[in-house]
Amino acid sequence: MCAHHNIQQTTDNWKEVEEFAKKALPGQIIEFIEECKKEANPESKLIKILQLVQEHYGFLGKTQMDAVAQLLQVPMAKVSGVATFYHFFRLVPRGKYLIRVCLGTACYVKGAERVVDKLKEELGIQFGETTKDGLFSLEGTRCLGCCGLAPVVEINEEIFGQVTPDKIPAILEQYSEKETEAQ
Ligand code: FES
Repeated sequence: MCAHHNIQQTTDNWKEVEEFAKKALPGQIIEFIEECKKEANPESKLIKILQLVQEHYGFLGKTQMDAVAQLLQVPMAKVSGVATFYHFFRLVPRGKYLIRVCLGTACYVKGAERVVDKLKEELGIQFGETTKDGLFSLEGTRCLGCCGLAPVVEINEEIFGQVTPDKIPAILEQYSEKETEAQ
């Protein structure tokens, strides 16, 4: 018997491959992959497939990438190679709170850079990363349209204006505390 983690890419255990993939991916993506396989060069559809997976889950997990590799019958190394090469693919789930720091001109002039440095220091992450506890992700963004409040930081839907580095710990604490209360 073939264990799930040891599925070989051969047609004689196709049922098992399919079964494994069905648990990992939604039906419409499996159907799309089936369509791609009928084409002359299915690999050329890899980016499109991974985009669909990311749209569905918000990121590309190992299990999902594995299922894509199995169904499309391309090596996992190829799938993860594509996933890591393109910056628009996210390999870790987005944090519960998305912190977006405005990098527009008005905010920049008023010291957004120092705010960014403080956020990176407090959270221990860079742009595009998520804290280990899954709470915060950090990103830069274009003008948020409230330049009068510069420098501006947005956390999920909430806007913080005239942010200075020394205000950062208290702002972050509001969110960490919400979590502790919710537990
Ligand atoms: S430049 Fe930051 S809100 Fe406009």
